[in-house]
Amino acid sequence: MKILVINGPNLNMLGKREPAHYDIDTLASIEQKLAEKGKTLGCELIFFQSNHEGGIIDFIQEKAPKADGILINPGALTHYGYSLHDALVDAGLPVVEVHLSDIHAREGWRKISVIADVAIKQVSGLKTQSYLLGLEALVENIGSQKK
Ligand code: DQA
Repeated sequence: MKILVINGPNLNMLGKREPAHYDIDTLASIEQKLAEKGKTLGCELIFFQSNHEGGIIDFIQEKAPKADGILINPGALTHYGYSLHDALVDAGLPVVEVHLSDIHAREGWRKISVIADVAIKQVSGLKTQSYLLGLEALVENIGSQKK
């Protein structure tokens, strides 16, 4: 089972960026924890981060045909990334949307996710744990589709 793990704009700055919202884990450390979890779940993870919506879309178009699911923290693209939304629809794979902070408890504009309707699940507000629980949910969904 192959999972694309995608992080959007500014998530390369984790560790230094607003720890009150995003905690102190770096993206490398989150990816390391995901890789360990992936091993126990029997899946291969392919990591990608970009500050550019087009770069993320290129990655999805290239890799989705040979993947089984997408775990994504779209960063601020969550709130306005319509082209990202459409690329996720075209990928035709199960998607889980994750957020470190609780987007529903912050500014009004963060409460809206234009990605949510493409996702089978949204996990928000649990810091690094959002990614780990998101991965579990995604793998479970893919497993149940294959049965
Ligand atoms: C975020 C929440 C977004 O609103 C923000 O723009 C981010 C990170 C999160 O993980 O909490 O960049 O997706």
